[in-house]
Amino acid sequence: MSWDRIEDRIERILYSEEAIRQRVGELAAQIAGDYAERGYANDPKCRPILLVGILRGALVFMADLARRFPMPVEYDLISVSSYGDGTAPNEVRLVKDLEKPVDGRDVLIIEDIIDTGYTIEYLKQNFATRNAASIRICSLVDKTVRREKPVAIDYAGFTLKEDAFIVGYGMDYAELYRNLPFVGILRPEFIR
Ligand code: PRP
Repeated sequence: MSWDRIEDRIERILYSEEAIRQRVGELAAQIAGDYAERGYANDPKCRPILLVGILRGALVFMADLARRFPMPVEYDLISVSSYGDGTAPNEVRLVKDLEKPVDGRDVLIIEDIIDTGYTIEYLKQNFATRNAASIRICSLVDKTVRREKPVAIDYAGFTLKEDAFIVGYGMDYAELYRNLPFVGILRPEFIR
């Protein structure tokens, strides 16, 4: 058998392309409803919400979510890393900062997955320090089993209760599989 097709490297699909499409639409409607009181329709000068995508995993999700919103939005990207030198586990570092200030902005952080919670806690504190007007969190997957930092996730696409390593729809293993249109579990022979 050839393993050239990445789909064949998946043991089990957790969230199908159709399930994701539907859930992304539901999230977009819920979020739009929650921010609706901001009055975009009546005030052309009203600052749109600022989507902040966390590179690189959130890229696919944010691109799809943003296009389901009925209202204007801005977006920016930030990159953080939790790779340390071994002496400071779970230390989150800023790798690439935002292009735009968040001062006074309504920020909606977009994540592909929240796992231990260290990354999102760092980002929330970071944006609060920069005086964002409000900070909400939207994650495609809320993986609860390894959570170490309690975090209030305002919008979660799917709750993952099993300790599965998942790939696809932006999520990678060794930088591969981000371009799968669904989320699944990798066959063990492809894990080094
Ligand atoms: C993943 C994911 C989150 C973070 C969540 O990023 O995109 O940012 O891990 O983990 P945590 O809750 O345990 O902190 P990763 O470091 O794999 O980088 P990537 O987005 O480039 O794949």
